[in-house]
Amino acid sequence: MLQWKEEYEVGVVEIDEQHQKLIDIANRVYELMRNELALDKYDQIVEILQELKEYTVYHFHFEEGLMQKARYKKRFSHKILHQEFLAQVEAVDLSAVDENQDAYLIQIMDFIANWLIDHIVGEDKKVGKSVRAQ
Ligand SMILES: [Fe+2]
Repeated sequence: MLQWKEEYEVGVVEIDEQHQKLIDIANRVYELMRNELALDKYDQIVEILQELKEYTVYHFHFEEGLMQKARYKKRFSHKILHQEFLAQVEAVDLSAVDENQDAYLIQIMDFIANWLIDHIVGEDKKVGKSVRAQ
């Protein structure tokens, strides 16, 4: 489970809200994975992961718009980081993962969660600073 921390704030309200929403969606996957009583768990996990993917696309697009407007100097390389992440998420064939492969799902979720946090702290904070400085 991921816990939102103040140190993740980039100082731009919309971006911070979107990051919190991404973490909320990711946590729903973790909760479902740990819920041993839920029936048809796998379908729901795939559904939430799809939602996570779609919201990530929306969020990246929003962030890239702000970077462009602020003429953020590293906007092109930052956009490539977004594209690389999405390519990795797209490459996961969830329909091929069956219910017994919980460990694989946890691995996917850990990759997504770790990437998000590292990206927010390492990169998006610099974007926030540039957007605020306009
Ligand atoms: Fe970003």
